[in-house]
Amino acid sequence: MRRFSFCRFGGLCKYGGVPKRKIIVNIAMSVDGYIARTDGNLDWLTSRRAPKGFYGLPKFSHSVDAKILGRKTFDLSVKMGASFSRDDVHYVFSRQPPPASVPVSVQFVTESIRGFAERLHKQAGKNIWMMGGGEIIGSFLDEAAIDEFIITVVPTFIGEGVPLIAPRHRAVTLRLRGVQQFPDGVVQLHYEVQQSKV
Ligand SMILES: NC(=O)c1ccc[n+]([C@@H]2O[C@H](COP(=O)([O-])OP(=O)(O)OC[C@H]3O[C@@H](n4cnc5c(N)ncnc54)[C@H](OP(=O)(O)O)[C@@H]3O)[C@@H](O)[C@H]2O)c1
Repeated sequence: MRRFSFCRFGGLCKYGGVPKRKIIVNIAMSVDGYIARTDGNLDWLTSRRAPKGFYGLPKFSHSVDAKILGRKTFDLSVKMGASFSRDDVHYVFSRQPPPASVPVSVQFVTESIRGFAERLHKQAGKNIWMMGGGEIIGSFLDEAAIDEFIITVVPTFIGEGVPLIAPRHRAVTLRLRGVQQFPDGVVQLHYEVQQSKV
């Protein structure tokens, strides 16, 4: 029997056949809710020795074929010497004109978030990794365009910094899908967005 469910964006999604692509935030956060120091420094994260399996990140990377980045995260990634693999499409959101030259797998997006997310959800493919930072996560969340959050909570307080989600009044309910504890005190929370309202 063919079964259908209602999509987040209206209409019908088939779930008896090909599963719907999801937009999933996968990000590391300090216990006090920050993803970077105010100046972008990630020393509290990069100075740690990750356990074998790297908190499931390599496995997660294989489950996606596209990544979404805010322009500031893109700029910092470039500065830190990140390579943008040709295996994945990297969508960078910005309200400004793109730089003259970007790596081949990078596309600057000017489309509305709602239109973009609807288009990607309809396309066949693997899941999509919302890499952050906090501003672009907030923008997507406010358009009900995030399906899940995987938050790797690092056992440290950094006191101030870039919040996981750019602040504003929200009413977002989450369903806990799983919790994983690692030997170094890191805890990974996996949530599904049930309802997102601003
Ligand atoms: N801990 C982690 O795992 C992790 C992961 C990712 C990032 N980070 C950190 O997060 C920090 C950056 O986060 P952030 O919140 O400051 O910035 P961000 O979300 O990376 O980028 C913000 C930029 O994205 C664009 N943008 C945001 N909303 C948009 C919308 N609705 N439409 C079009 N463009 C939009 C704008 O670019 P324009 O200004 O060009 O218009 C905006 O300035 C960095 O320090 C990075 O290292 C940490």
